[in-house]
Amino acid sequence: MKKPKRYTITAALPYANGPLHIGHMAGVYIPADTYVRFLRSAGREVAFVCGSDEHGAAITLRAKKEGRSPQDLVDEYHNLNERAFRDFGIGFDIFHRTSDALHHATASDYFLRLHAKGVFEQQSSQQYFDEEANQFLADRYISGTCPKCGYENAYGDQCENCGSTLSPQDLIDPKSTLSGTAPVLKATSHWFLPMQRHEGWLRAWIEEGMLEGLQAHDPSQWKRQVLGQCKSWIDGGLQARAMTRDLDWGVPVPLEGEEGKVLYVWLDAPIGYISATKAWAEATGKDWKAHWCDGDTKLVHFLAKDNIVFHCIIFPILLREHGDFILPDNVPANEFLNLEGKKISTSRNWAVWLHEYLEDFPGRSDELRYVLTATAPEFRDSEFTWSDFQTRVNNELVAVLGNFVNRTLVLTHKFFEGKVPALDNYSFDNEQAARAMERIAEFRDEIAALIEAYRFKEAQAEVMRLAQLGNRILTQEEPWKRFKTEPGHAAAVLHLCLQITANIGILADPFLPNTAAKIREMLSLGEADWSRISPELLGVGDPVGSAQLLFSKLEDEEVAAQVKKLQASAEPQKTDNYTPMPQKDTISFDDFVKMDIRVATVVAAERVPKTDKLLKLELDTGIDRRTVVSGIAEHYKAEDLPGRQVCVLVNLAPRKLRGIESRGMVLMAEGEGGKLRFVQPEAGLPNGAEVR
Ligand code: MF3
Ligand code: ZN
Repeated sequence: MKKPKRYTITAALPYANGPLHIGHMAGVYIPADTYVRFLRSAGREVAFVCGSDEHGAAITLRAKKEGRSPQDLVDEYHNLNERAFRDFGIGFDIFHRTSDALHHATASDYFLRLHAKGVFEQQSSQQYFDEEANQFLADRYISGTCPKCGYENAYGDQCENCGSTLSPQDLIDPKSTLSGTAPVLKATSHWFLPMQRHEGWLRAWIEEGMLEGLQAHDPSQWKRQVLGQCKSWIDGGLQARAMTRDLDWGVPVPLEGEEGKVLYVWLDAPIGYISATKAWAEATGKDWKAHWCDGDTKLVHFLAKDNIVFHCIIFPILLREHGDFILPDNVPANEFLNLEGKKISTSRNWAVWLHEYLEDFPGRSDELRYVLTATAPEFRDSEFTWSDFQTRVNNELVAVLGNFVNRTLVLTHKFFEGKVPALDNYSFDNEQAARAMERIAEFRDEIAALIEAYRFKEAQAEVMRLAQLGNRILTQEEPWKRFKTEPGHAAAVLHLCLQITANIGILADPFLPNTAAKIREMLSLGEADWSRISPELLGVGDPVGSAQLLFSKLEDEEVAAQVKKLQASAEPQKTDNYTPMPQKDTISFDDFVKMDIRVATVVAAERVPKTDKLLKLELDTGIDRRTVVSGIAEHYKAEDLPGRQVCVLVNLAPRKLRGIESRGMVLMAEGEGGKLRFVQPEAGLPNGAEVR
């Protein structure tokens, strides 16, 4: 595919009803910013837009609870979040907001254009109405018992316990959250988007990248989980979805006789990307249309997995029906980041809030960016723990990158008066040193290719490998020892290490903007410019500044304090929040004893290649050694399992999974949110012990 003329990069508009936490950063904003920093450094033309999502029932509900106006609430969080983004170096061209007049006008016009084209269908339907509050109830304003899992506090649009998507009329015993009374059904009419009409082209576009017979994008570049989610939506049959709501906060439906109705927040919010681009263009004299309507523009949406359907199905329908707009080239959505073994939860205060992190670790935003990229949920859910944070900061940033740069600069000052010494065609016996110069260009190309493929975690790891290479050369060559007898050798080693350092000042910029800027400053390199990456980035005799500290070690106490803080501020985990599955049908004792369950020890474990869920376990069952394939890879790391005792059903008929014969099944218990944990025998039982 040919190189785009320009890029429009969007990052999901965060709701302005709460602060940002590390999950938002890892899932959306750091990857988007990394990508954009790379594009800019490579000289591409980019508009990077975001803003606050300030409408929707979640916001009015929260404002009501706090006894303030919705505007007051969104003003507070818009400002707080804008500052957090700035403090973490997220370089949006604009951070706009959907309560802005420009956005209201843009969304309103957009709706009118689609309406005039007959894109919507008016349908009358029965909606819940609160007679005491005298208003129709948005889905979020209704709670009741989930029909799927029995959880009593499910919302009208979703059950937070089992994750099912619901509609209000699915709820058992619905209650209005405004008055607590049982709502009544009353007729109201809304404008619907008949999504089923679009199934044909959507399928061709998503699955094959084809649009009107032309190759629009390459589906092999889309993440598997994104394609999978889209396919399952389409396969499940698309349905008409209401694009208006009975609510008094939002963009009013711009039609006569529709007073009291606003645009559905998921119609209005993505249009917010367009409004943001317009506002940016107005302020800077740029052309917003080129960024949204020209086929030479590459549009990429960054977001987390709960936003996929809106950006891959609903918004594309709206863009195409409008007629003037391009469709996204890619939607590299991420999965979720968990925290210390649990799902991040705003309502339970189980989160690391960005503004608090910076209060506790001032000036250390790169450390968090680094760890969130290293553990990013790019292809599956992942986990942040404070102890892993400490390990990565100390063993990778401090010990590898910081140490390498520091030693290089200090030695240059000690032996070469702070000037880049000559390489003088020195020939090294050490192969790593001999090839170091060619490796710089190889690293550049590998890192660029990984970033362009949205594989930021691997790309960042490559940057660290380059630092590691430099570190190893220093350690092996020991220029401080050989300086006296062989000054040419010491000069050549430091020349190599300085060139590596200088190039890291550009290569690391997408990931560690502050650190990269410090490195460039020490070496008087100016802006990060990808085209300058080269083994001759520095000239012989160029001045080398004195070494500034890049990272400092995280002490055990600092980390322990964070864990303590998290646990102390978390709302107690309500055990009554979990509603067990109803009991299954009665079975006889004979049925039970047919199952042969034994205690076994995991001898080895490995990931089944190309799967997200499967681990291949080698078990010592006391009877034999056997292989069992278990769907627990999202819950346990293979390397943590050897040595663990588990219970296993040994007489289950063998099954082939991904070509591997699995003989038995490891017993797991399923907790809240589908989390799996081993049913673990007490210590002291031999392998082969029968469970009965
Ligand atoms: N506010 C939504 C969320 O946080 C995301 C909106 S993205 C946009 O899940 F498309 F609406 F902009
Ligand atoms: Zn449920």
